Amino acid sequence: MDRPKRTLLEVLEGKTVKPPPIWLMRQAGRYLPEYRATRANVKSFLDLCYTPDLAVEVTLQPIRRYAFDAAILFSDILVIPDAFDRNVRFVEGEGPQLDPIDEAGIAALSMPDVVARLAPVFETVRRLRSQLPAETTLLGFCGAPWTIATYMIAGHGTPDQAPARLFAYRHPAAFERLLSIIAEASISYLVAQIDAGADAVQIFDSWAGVLGDHEFDEYAIKPVKRIIDGLRAERPQAKVIAFAKGAGYNLKRYRQGTGADAIGLDWSVPLDFAVELQKDGAVQGNLDPLRMVAGGDSLDAGIDRILDKLGNGPLIFNLGHGITPQADPANVDRLIRRVRSLGG
Ligand code: CP3
Repeated sequence: MDRPKRTLLEVLEGKTVKPPPIWLMRQAGRYLPEYRATRANVKSFLDLCYTPDLAVEVTLQPIRRYAFDAAILFSDILVIPDAFDRNVRFVEGEGPQLDPIDEAGIAALSMPDVVARLAPVFETVRRLRSQLPAETTLLGFCGAPWTIATYMIAGHGTPDQAPARLFAYRHPAAFERLLSIIAEASISYLVAQIDAGADAVQIFDSWAGVLGDHEFDEYAIKPVKRIIDGLRAERPQAKVIAFAKGAGYNLKRYRQGTGADAIGLDWSVPLDFAVELQKDGAVQGNLDPLRMVAGGDSLDAGIDRILDKLGNGPLIFNLGHGITPQADPANVDRLIRRVRSLGG
């Protein structure tokens, strides 16, 4: 059987595809009325992640509406701390909460059986691959160890991840152990996603931007390299997108340092710098998600600048971070139409 043409995978191999493949971070989410309707029927957000019928349904919702070039598994990066029994819950209006971990808690952590513990997630991936159109790339994902560690240490989101930064300065050995055990669990998690049918994976380091340059090497680059090396040692064909939000000039070292096939760009990355990064391989991004709220001329202008600057190299069109609940679904239509008509 011929291999189906999945344009996003071609870009991950370094090819320039016109128009560029497009998907949006958080494309399944609260801006969609059908997501809110499904979400209203479940008690907790984790139930949505761990019920394959529902997770498949919400993953497919944006694909049905917009025919994106990629679907991303519906789950959350915090299922890894959940697998470590950190009592993860999502409190309405407050975001995630976990039991904060300290030095003793880190010493006591033991490796969960990720494949058994997160079995419903892999079942969701299997069903998705059989239900998606052949040309749609299926992305799996995990959080980067640094970003996961920030939530595990603070026990909730914070504006600048001061608790994790302080902890790393005060208790470097314990902190290294935490990153290392998260990285090991993440390798098993990604291998199992690939085995269940994911075509490629994205690693989200949403809090990379609060790290100094030395800490960026130690806490963002090294653990992500370890995950990618570990994944490729077991599944050599696996393709990886690495997204280090807020990393700015540190992105220069990020692709080579981690070995990722594509580098995600948040909206603050200057496009001239992005052109430099694109000379080494594929990039993904970087439209400001708020343009999806504003719409109109500002949306069109933002799209055009990205296509002008990055459209002649390996590009995956995306936002610079997740789409927000305030985004107008009609603006997603406008975005897709414009990228597919002008990007060719
Ligand atoms: O992109 C997708 O459509 C796939 C699903 C996905 C979710 N979270 C669903 C979700 C993905 C890839 C994530 C990743 C994630 N989760 C990250 C990294 C990316 C980023 O946004 O920076 C982080 C930091 C988290 C942790 C997390 N999950 C937070 C801080 C929150 C609360 C904030 C919020 O938006 O409510 C979540 C909850 C969450 N994860 C929701 C969704 C759709 C909203 C919960 C709900 O519907 O009630």
